[in-house]
Amino acid sequence: MINPTLTEMATYPFVRLEEARRRLVAAGVEVIDFGKGDPNEPTDPMIRQALIDAVPERAPYPLAQGLPELRQAASDWCKRRFGVAVDPDTEIVPTYGSKEAIFSLAQVLDTAGRTVVFGEPAYPVYERGALFAGAKVQTLPLLRENSFLPDVDAIPDDTAIVWVNYPHNPTGAVAPLEFYERLAAAAAERGFYIASDEAYSELWFDQSPPSVLQLADRSRALVFQTLSKRSSMTGYRSGFVAAPAEIVAALKAYRPTVGTAPQEFVQRASVVAWNDERHVDETRARYRAKRDVMIPAIQAKGWEIVASEATMYLWVVGPAPDALLERGILVSPGEFFGPSGAGYVRFALVPTLDECERAAAILAEL
Ligand SMILES: Cc1ncc(COP(=O)(O)O)c(C=O)c1O
Repeated sequence: MINPTLTEMATYPFVRLEEARRRLVAAGVEVIDFGKGDPNEPTDPMIRQALIDAVPERAPYPLAQGLPELRQAASDWCKRRFGVAVDPDTEIVPTYGSKEAIFSLAQVLDTAGRTVVFGEPAYPVYERGALFAGAKVQTLPLLRENSFLPDVDAIPDDTAIVWVNYPHNPTGAVAPLEFYERLAAAAAERGFYIASDEAYSELWFDQSPPSVLQLADRSRALVFQTLSKRSSMTGYRSGFVAAPAEIVAALKAYRPTVGTAPQEFVQRASVVAWNDERHVDETRARYRAKRDVMIPAIQAKGWEIVASEATMYLWVVGPAPDALLERGILVSPGEFFGPSGAGYVRFALVPTLDECERAAAILAEL
């Protein structure tokens, strides 16, 4: 017998995109894939070399608490980037990317029979983690007229966790610190935790976005960070959680059971990645160049680009995904991410600059 939560789950939407891509490739169509948000950017040679240099003759099990050097590098980065002191020993734990930690949070906190809240459209993992933990799920629509921010007053009383994700996948919207302050006031009053998925905090083009780490009172704030997008390291699987000491202690107790500590050679490469900003500047420049090609090409079609201030995503009103697909341009239909995504499509700017230029030419012909 299979867990009914699993059997009742719809196919992970990106599996469907991958199927469409394979069909097109088999039919001989050149596919330019703006679907999945997996960066095609090279990982900086310095980081790759650090990984190679760190591969030992024998690799023992990595410990859940991670290497002290990595926790220190993450803490130093929080200080440099957000101006906050996060204790590397008690307030940080390394994670295997951020997805597994996002998924399992509802099992680590006491959520059974309580509600996990998140805005939609959304990355699907908040919901799945909550359902597997036996929690109830409440979505809040993220709408253009509310700048894609959820209505804090609509959070139910029995809420255990509120997920936020800014810069936001899929809309590219950014939340101001005032929004986090309002949410923190509600969290203190009603006793929920704010879980902030900040996977895209470094992919900005105008102003660097704030973090919930900057809250005046961060006693209810948990941050999920990752090198996947910042340093184009999706395959390495490396991130960290920064959270109040009692939550980090709970994560350190839970995580050895699951076995999700990153390999030590990955941790050593991660130290190099967190300690360097040059390669992040270069990454932003590469995405900016792609935006400079794709934004005018999309606007020239009369389609409207909404939000999209940060992240690798453009959130667009107008195009029909199937018509684009016929010409080999693969995008994600907005409803993949929730009902409030209907009417939008998401372009993930992961193809190379050359491919973006070819896609722009195809759009011009459409
Ligand atoms: C919003 C969001 N959060 C988290 C992740 C997970 O990233 P990773 O597990 O690679 O850190 C992703 C990946 O696409 C994402 O889009």
